Amino acid sequence: MVEDSSLEKVHREDIDKRVAVVTGGSLGIGEAVSTRLLGLGWQVHVLARRPEAYSLAGHPSCHLHSVDVRDADALGDAAASINETSGLVDALILCAGVGYPTPLADASREQYAELFDTNVAGTIFAAKAFAPVLRNGLAVVVVVSSIAGRRGYADWSLYCAAKHALEGFVASIRDELRHRRIRVTSIQPGSVDTPSYAHLAPKEKTEFIDPVSVADLMVSAIQLPPQASIEILFVNNAVGDL
Ligand SMILES: NC(=O)c1ccc[n+]([C@@H]2O[C@H](COP(=O)([O-])OP(=O)(O)OC[C@H]3O[C@@H](n4cnc5c(N)ncnc54)[C@H](OP(=O)(O)O)[C@@H]3O)[C@@H](O)[C@H]2O)c1
Repeated sequence: MVEDSSLEKVHREDIDKRVAVVTGGSLGIGEAVSTRLLGLGWQVHVLARRPEAYSLAGHPSCHLHSVDVRDADALGDAAASINETSGLVDALILCAGVGYPTPLADASREQYAELFDTNVAGTIFAAKAFAPVLRNGLAVVVVVSSIAGRRGYADWSLYCAAKHALEGFVASIRDELRHRRIRVTSIQPGSVDTPSYAHLAPKEKTEFIDPVSVADLMVSAIQLPPQASIEILFVNNAVGDL
């Protein structure tokens, strides 16, 4: 096997100034990964509708961008401004999402629009906006999908349909970006204890996964040497589907 020394060189030269963009980086799983990357010395750009909610909003290496991922123009503007201030992006983490049950008898067009525009279009147009500014030979895109992208669940059909659609998108851009040696990971967690489950009592969440554990898996994928790619990370609850 021939060693590709140019890839190793990119990795070594840029290790001290690595740049991450995290959509939905203010709360839950996104908050946990933003915090891990700041701790590793990265510059982290947090995109959310209310990014100031992020617990480390005042960190000197943290940059906040008020963006609704359903607005493709706003995503394009954020990509241009981040590229101007921070240069190329080493990790693009597409985490912004919403989820709730929609029993079929009551499923509405409004729920369909919110679930698909946020989880599917929001991810597609964020990937489109940032793809031109990803660093060739090194960058990793992590898309936060779900166990709902692998299976169907009664009463969750619209969320499951959205996450299944997302998986088709991720599998396609993985091949499309391969020629630039940009790696694309889909992470598919089971139930995670985040603010999206704030309505549940603590005793109902004792088997939920800690968001920091999910963030650690994502950071492992991001930090792999450029020759290796984790394409799918499925992390279920130890007790099985919840
Ligand atoms: N929690 C789980 O059990 C679980 C399991 C599997 C997969 N997931 C997936 O993990 C991702 C994060 O979920 P979470 O549980 O961490 O949720 P969360 O705690 O509710 O956080 C959601 C994040 O997304 C942002 N966001 C939501 N809608 C947005 C929009 N239109 N534009 C920009 N940002 C938006 C939120 O900020 P703003 O509200 O300020 O915009 C927040 O930063 C989602 O894609 C979800 O489907 C979650």
